[in-house]
Amino acid sequence: MSGPLILGIETSCDETGVAVVEGSTVRSSVLASQTDLHARFGGVVPEVAARAHVEALRPLVHRALTTAGVHSDQLDAVAATQGPGLAGALMVGFSFGKALAWSLEKPFLGIDHMEGHLFAPLLDHGAYAPPAVVLLASGGHSQIVHVHDWGRYELMGATIDDAAGEAFDKLARFMGLGFPGGPAIDRASDGGDPTAVRFPRALPDRPYDFSFSGLKTSVVTFLEKAKAEKSVPPLADVAASLQEAIVDVLVTKTFNAVEAAEVTTVAGGGGVLANRRLRARLQEEADRRGVALYLPSPALCTDNGAMIASAGTFRLGRGDVASWPADVNPALRLA
Ligand code: KG4
Ligand code: ZN
Repeated sequence: MSGPLILGIETSCDETGVAVVEGSTVRSSVLASQTDLHARFGGVVPEVAARAHVEALRPLVHRALTTAGVHSDQLDAVAATQGPGLAGALMVGFSFGKALAWSLEKPFLGIDHMEGHLFAPLLDHGAYAPPAVVLLASGGHSQIVHVHDWGRYELMGATIDDAAGEAFDKLARFMGLGFPGGPAIDRASDGGDPTAVRFPRALPDRPYDFSFSGLKTSVVTFLEKAKAEKSVPPLADVAASLQEAIVDVLVTKTFNAVEAAEVTTVAGGGGVLANRRLRARLQEEADRRGVALYLPSPALCTDNGAMIASAGTFRLGRGDVASWPADVNPALRLA
């Protein structure tokens, strides 16, 4: 399916992502990951992230255009993440995008990062359409959104403390598995028994909300006690069990929302949706209930420029063009 040619720029956190998207076709999507830069600090350092975006962005835009076989003159618009995210990091991509659009005399679109994650499934699944319930789970957010229509979002639930990705990251750091923690725990859980240790599932009385901060305490307490008693279970079992505790609540509460919203479409976005166990459990539950599940491919779950261009396509169609004085908004909220 063709559509406008949009250059998407994502710099809200620690990945510089640039893509050229035409309708729902990804013509190119390139990434400069800063993972190694931040790994020795065990988390993202905002100033380091912003500087790395400055270095990576210009060559990456060039590579995205070259790979797509597109000259910048052919673009219909430039889209960049406006928020939420790290102020300095956001400013790099937003200012670059705005200057590029200005020099090309093309519209500039400021995109909500979470709306980008909402649109990502569309790049793999043309049939994905509202009304839908969408689970957004990343390093900074865990939300359940009822998408009544594109652009009309209702926040049904959210985390009251840590985001799901943050829980993975903190637990992996504690267990010495490295950064980012999600992929490390995903790998470490290979062959492990998810029922080996029963870690708590928080907030059972709040159908759509999450809480993950207690899980860390519980894992730390469990491992310290097990060490003292010289009865530490195999790493794969611990990783699979804590992963199961996170996945369990994400799946249960997403489908609570599906039931309440009476939708037959469920989707997901954000880095945590790259998790193999979460994907399998969501699919199982969707099949059991006969609802359609649309998940982006793992590379489009984590931050990327294509999802920003995809949301940009919708915003351009609506005429939601950013004004030249527009600025980043690190605290931008979807709904
Ligand atoms: O969406 P994203 O790339 O960036 C934010 O917007 O935050 O999400 C990053 C988060 C990190 O916390 C990372 O540990 C988590 O997504 N993540 C995963 C997996 N891959 C990335 N969590 C669990 N399993 C994975 N395979
Ligand atoms: Zn994200």
